[in-house]
Amino acid sequence: MRIYLNHRFVAETKAVVSVFDHGFLYGDGVFETVRAYEGRLFRLDEHLTRLKESARGLNITLPRTLPAWHRLLYQTLAINHLKNALVRITVSRGTGPIGLDPALCRKPTLVIIPRAFNGCPETPHRKGWKVAIASVRRTPSQALNPRIKSMNFLNNILAKIQAKGNHADEGLMLSLDGYLTEGSVSNLFLIKRRRLYTPAAGLGILEGITRQVVIELAKENRIPLHETRLRPSDLYKADECFLTNTSMEIMPVVKADGMKIGDGKPGPITRHLHEAYRAQVRFECGI
Ligand code: PDD
Repeated sequence: MRIYLNHRFVAETKAVVSVFDHGFLYGDGVFETVRAYEGRLFRLDEHLTRLKESARGLNITLPRTLPAWHRLLYQTLAINHLKNALVRITVSRGTGPIGLDPALCRKPTLVIIPRAFNGCPETPHRKGWKVAIASVRRTPSQALNPRIKSMNFLNNILAKIQAKGNHADEGLMLSLDGYLTEGSVSNLFLIKRRRLYTPAAGLGILEGITRQVVIELAKENRIPLHETRLRPSDLYKADECFLTNTSMEIMPVVKADGMKIGDGKPGPITRHLHEAYRAQVRFECGI
């Protein structure tokens, strides 16, 4: 695979950044993951806008204009002969002497890592995932704006470690005051009496691009949607539950903290929304 590093494409073995990069030293930077379907990057503008906003939140000026990003990302796919792929964009503060002051770094480091991706295997989608609520809480917005998709994912990583320790596939994090926020790499939706519920953005979540598509689809499909506060008990008592992100799209959840959700099988509204999601992808990507 050819990796884009700063100004050129290099072989994977040559794609190395300095030990003085502040992304490495302090997690000082932002990232984004975009998915390509049959050569088209889905909701690219939304991802690039979020990347730009994340960078702005850290006072990093995103190098290049948005049209230049478009060209560069499509070039990345072309050079690697990729049609179906995940593309990881990383923009770090850059290289500079040790010390927190951003002024120590002259220019951001830019990395684009593509990989072939034809979607998650069907089995997990058919069987559904197990989730576990982690003891580690979501970083509150007052400490770090969760809209900044930063290179520091430590509390999410701790939630993932705990989930795996509990034989679950994904760890959910609560806010400091005990409301459900999101998964370590995903947004959360619950269904109760044919209504859709998702933690409100104000609770301190990363507002996923996939989440936004689901919100739009719920409106189109006349499924009432509530962006609200949800407690763990709402999760345990839900009829259906699913998680969303760019790579897995919509993942049904069948167990939470060892308890069955609904009848313990992926639910019909979840399946319907996933079909609608895939149709939307095909429509927007011209497949
Ligand atoms: N991010 N919440 C968190 C904490 C996430 O890390 C992610 C995805 C999401 C879903 O966002 P979207 O629907 O835009 O993919 C929600 C993973 C780590 C990534 O982008 O690689």
